[in-house]
Amino acid sequence: MNSKPASIPLTPPRIDRLPLPAHVAIIMDGNGRWAKKRSWRRIQGHEQGAETVRAIVRTSREAGIRVLTLYAFSTENWQRPEKEVKVLMHLLKKFLKGEEKELMENNIRLDAIGQIHRLPEDVIHVLDRVRHRTAANEGMRLNLALSYGARSEIVRMVRRLAEKVRNGKLAPEDIDETVLSDHLYTAGLPDPDVLIRTSGEMRISNFLLWQIAYSEIFVTDTLWPDFTKEEYLAILDAYQRRERRFGKTT
Ligand code: FPP
Repeated sequence: MNSKPASIPLTPPRIDRLPLPAHVAIIMDGNGRWAKKRSWRRIQGHEQGAETVRAIVRTSREAGIRVLTLYAFSTENWQRPEKEVKVLMHLLKKFLKGEEKELMENNIRLDAIGQIHRLPEDVIHVLDRVRHRTAANEGMRLNLALSYGARSEIVRMVRRLAEKVRNGKLAPEDIDETVLSDHLYTAGLPDPDVLIRTSGEMRISNFLLWQIAYSEIFVTDTLWPDFTKEEYLAILDAYQRRERRFGKTT
């Protein structure tokens, strides 16, 4: 049974000017380089990266972000050495177990997008439990992109639409942008207003290709384990100063 927690007092948001982004998406990159700079193992970079995840989730909630989507594991990441994949899965499980209480206390709903069935069974088990337990939380949605790839998400969406057309449940002329969006993993969520990528690479890396059509992009050279609450708030502040035109003139 899902019992709704009493809202706990949050520190007042530092970002008090509007508009606040409703949805922030982050490509968390640079764990390996962070470790390499210290002659440490890549694994230690991921461990530190998991700490940054905790801090950024908390800050997002405090700032009043409605949806936070984190690119935690891509479909391409399965090709990494088996040992590294194992560590990433272990960290994910540890994160889910360790954060369950805080997610409840802060009224955060956890969900996942991607080919979840490809994850190890024990991870799926914990993920399902946390998803279920936090399902009624409305303070913020935390989406973990796990075994996620935008192209495969689009293929899945097209197949689902084709199936509906074949079964006579959908007419081809009724397919529009909203129908497409409604058949993606992110159905029902606003598109990201802000896309952040750490560690300086100017790439999208198969992340939310459809959804980021009008996102404001921020790339920072900071490696993910070094990404701080202060830098995150500075990006949100910079977003508020940008003029979004959505293809129109001012
Ligand atoms: C990129 O670093 C990051 C990842 C492959 C995954 C992100 C994982 C975490 C932040 C830790 C665990 C996640 C959670 C949700 C607890 P990289 O290895 O590609 O870095 P590099 O480009 O410098 O090699």
